[in-house]
Amino acid sequence: MERPCPPKRCRLLLVPCPYQGHINPMLQLATFLHQNGFSITIAHTFFNSLHPHRHPEFTFIRLNDNLPLDDVSSWDLGSVLLAVNNNCRASLEEAVAAMAGKTGEGSGEVMCIIHDELMYFCEAVASRFGVRSLVFRTTSAAACVSRCAILRLSAEGRLPVQKESLEEEVPNLDPLRFKDLPLSAVSDITKLTQIILNMYAINTSSAVIWNTMPWLEPSELNKIKAKFCQIPIFPIAPIHKISPTSSSSSLLKEDSTCLSWLDKQAPKSVIYVSLGSVALLTKGEVEEMGWGLVNSNQPFLWVVRPGSVRGSDAIELVLKEVEEKVGDRGCIVQWAPQKEVLGHGGVGGFWSHCGWNSTLESLSEGVPLLCRPFSGDQRVNARYVSCVWGVGLALEGELDRKEVEKGIRRVMVEEEGRKMKERAMDFKRRIEDSLKEDGSSSCSLKQLVDFIMRVTF
Ligand code: UDX
Repeated sequence: MERPCPPKRCRLLLVPCPYQGHINPMLQLATFLHQNGFSITIAHTFFNSLHPHRHPEFTFIRLNDNLPLDDVSSWDLGSVLLAVNNNCRASLEEAVAAMAGKTGEGSGEVMCIIHDELMYFCEAVASRFGVRSLVFRTTSAAACVSRCAILRLSAEGRLPVQKESLEEEVPNLDPLRFKDLPLSAVSDITKLTQIILNMYAINTSSAVIWNTMPWLEPSELNKIKAKFCQIPIFPIAPIHKISPTSSSSSLLKEDSTCLSWLDKQAPKSVIYVSLGSVALLTKGEVEEMGWGLVNSNQPFLWVVRPGSVRGSDAIELVLKEVEEKVGDRGCIVQWAPQKEVLGHGGVGGFWSHCGWNSTLESLSEGVPLLCRPFSGDQRVNARYVSCVWGVGLALEGELDRKEVEKGIRRVMVEEEGRKMKERAMDFKRRIEDSLKEDGSSSCSLKQLVDFIMRVTF
């Protein structure tokens, strides 16, 4: 999809949110835009700092986030986001001022800012310098609709949700129940509503780039367009398939030895288990997962991320016992090259927390899911995977080894799993169609390039 270079270089300043699930899609977008003739500068924080040497094609600048790096892992997501948005503004302004000196009238370059939806402070910086900006939404449209519902429920005095209402459906938000709302990532409702307002109420962006597809979330995108988004929306998913050659943007080192282990497994026999980059578990949950995997009799590849278990010293023993019990039937790593894993013929199911990237990566490879969401938009995605798209099964309630074993077998070997797999394969085909020359995502990307050229020159 490479296109001729613009006559004058346009420099795009991209600002990812400093979490793995946001860094990946932003760098994938950066790669696509670079391949289409744009110069790219990435502004990143000290917290979860990127690896510039892996991306020599981009220029990098550091934003002063002033976060206490040795302490920030104990903060909740809302506090980190509010601090990043408050603290990074000054250094982004400095960077834009310096760049504006080299760009603009009479120079070789013009500039435009593209920022993650959670880095909303960029809007004020763009406005101050008269620079165009576009927002990149890296979560689902359904997550956006449900966050807006939180504002409505908060105004109606219905938050926090009462225990007895958790199983009820939220009015006008079918198929979501109160317990599916993305409330838990930010424990304080006032902080949460402030972040949501900041994300959606600012109207100075020129357009929205969205890592979704119109056919995947038609009614959610239509609701958004009708209610509050008067600017163009470019649905370009799955962005990880658009620029597959980009170098890894993993913050943790990928352990590729699991690929040779996968080579030795029967086709579609392995359940891949990974709960993403931020979920935290208890030792008890790890035990239930481990013994459920053992008892399922299925081959498994299990990612246990460093720091993902509270008091992680205690789990070494659990993992050792599981490894001894299953021998070569199981493979446990700290971080996997997930996209390659999901694309490997040996993988037949994905036990996932349903982060939006993991969900799209799984659908793109036709792999059905066992859904175990933890927080934020993951619950919304999990509900869509199981109840709307029919490509997964929800593992609800307390983690229990019997339920884990049953869930794995339902997805991997039983008739309902076979049907989920068929539907997942259908999604894979539709995604491939979207990426063809005249497919919806390819067309949207072409329009995006033209749009940026039109509004910046
Ligand atoms: C966070 C939120 O939890 C999620 O709900 C939101 O949609 C994005 O930010 P995260 O936990 O990082 O997500 O999950 P996800 O969105 O799935 O992103 C994780 C990324 O890490 C994926 O691109 C995945 O391929 C990658 N990954 C994960 C690896 O490369 N290796 C692994 O072992 C696990």
